[in-house]
Amino acid sequence: MHKEWIPLAEVPSRPYTEAVEMFRSHINPGLVALLEIGEYTAINPQSARGAVITSTEGKEILDFVSSYGALNFGHNHPRILQAMQEIQNRRQVDLSKELLSPYTAFLAHNLSLSLPGDLSKVYFCNSGTEAVEAALKLASRCFKGKRLTFLYADNALHGKTIGALSVTGSDRLREFFPTLPAQSMTFGKSDDLEQLLEKNITNGEQQVAAVILEPIQGEAGIIIPPDNYLREVRELCDRFGVLLILDEIQTGMGRTGSFLACEQEGIVPDIVAMAKSLGGGVATIGATVSTTKVFKTAYENPHDCLVQTSTFGGRATSCAAAMAALEVLQEENLFTNTKERGEQLLSGLINLQKKYPEWIKDVRGRGLMVGIEFNVDVINQAKYLPLKLPGLKSVLREHLPGMVAAALLKQHGILGTLMLNNRAVLRVYPPLIITEEQIDYFLNSLDNILSQGPKDLVKNRVNHAVGNSGLKFIGSWAVSFIKK
Ligand SMILES: Cc1ncc(COP(=O)(O)O)c(C=O)c1O
Repeated sequence: MHKEWIPLAEVPSRPYTEAVEMFRSHINPGLVALLEIGEYTAINPQSARGAVITSTEGKEILDFVSSYGALNFGHNHPRILQAMQEIQNRRQVDLSKELLSPYTAFLAHNLSLSLPGDLSKVYFCNSGTEAVEAALKLASRCFKGKRLTFLYADNALHGKTIGALSVTGSDRLREFFPTLPAQSMTFGKSDDLEQLLEKNITNGEQQVAAVILEPIQGEAGIIIPPDNYLREVRELCDRFGVLLILDEIQTGMGRTGSFLACEQEGIVPDIVAMAKSLGGGVATIGATVSTTKVFKTAYENPHDCLVQTSTFGGRATSCAAAMAALEVLQEENLFTNTKERGEQLLSGLINLQKKYPEWIKDVRGRGLMVGIEFNVDVINQAKYLPLKLPGLKSVLREHLPGMVAAALLKQHGILGTLMLNNRAVLRVYPPLIITEEQIDYFLNSLDNILSQGPKDLVKNRVNHAVGNSGLKFIGSWAVSFIKK
């Protein structure tokens, strides 16, 4: 065990390998092993601007992940960064719960002007999962605790704290944790929702407080519901007197070409949860915004003013960054760029699907929220399996998009990654400031990787894992497949 204290001033000059080892020993060894297989740990990120990350060796990496949608404005957008820095440079009050910050108040005002309908009562927090927690609490509170159950969609991801986890449709994430009462339904099927709402009427009383949905499911693998689905959900919620919470944490802030994705369906939820790019990629901020009716019903008594608060939620620096982010979204014409670059990306991917049908099963998306679903059986064509490890093929199948991402990084300097609840899909989330040339570079790079065939892809990754901690990781993964 390393006992030496590490002074902050030495961080830039210490070997990066030391940081990776400390990450492994103090934070998350499994994650380090997973990242090692993809050779992500070989890159020491030094600086970043826009869509480009530069390593200490001067290698440029094009970011097609955007921190899962938290970097819609790219890295370190100068105007957004400046908004935060000015507060610090002027030594303004950043944090005080008793002294109200004008930045918090004016952000709430501008946010409500940016949102559809009467979404105007704002609770600020620090992350997506907290925004969802607050939404679930708000909905329960509207029914004075008489309705404690929620409906959510299969494969949904709403966060990893207990409340948000309870409405997250992933057994792998939920296993061994206690959860709140909640029932899952099929995403995209309003009949399923209708049946559940009917089933939950006991002695004439509805038991469901709220339905929570992502307008387009992200981590489930970019699942776009059928036309009219959200409108039908809205109607059913109204008919059954149940609240509708939309999680726009990933889809919001322009990612799909409008401020919220639900605007394209012409519906307004009772409560919306936002986070990720709300902080413009530099601040950590989430928000739960509800209608006046919902807010008043839940917290009508002034004595309730301390029931839902957060120490860091709504600090001045974060709110200034979010105010700048809202301005940049409009003034830099990012909605138009998102639509145009999104069309370029999707049509380029459709061409690649036609060229490589054995590789690509489907491509789908809206705006710059795009996914490539791979045909994982292409692994069967990779006859290079040097390890006689039972279960290895299943592991490779599950990691096919991960292997494509690793090849994109190593051979073309493109950062890509998979989706949390769908291992067949490669996430394609460039920042909304992406250029036409950068999209072309991505498409040509992917074309080049696929043209090399699955054997090379598997060979490179497996060879890299051998003699590396990644092998142990693959082994434990294979064992879990065999156990299943
Ligand atoms: C749709 C959605 N909701 C909620 C969350 C949770 O957000 P956070 O990681 O900020 O807690 C995520 C995170 O990826 C998400 O994609």
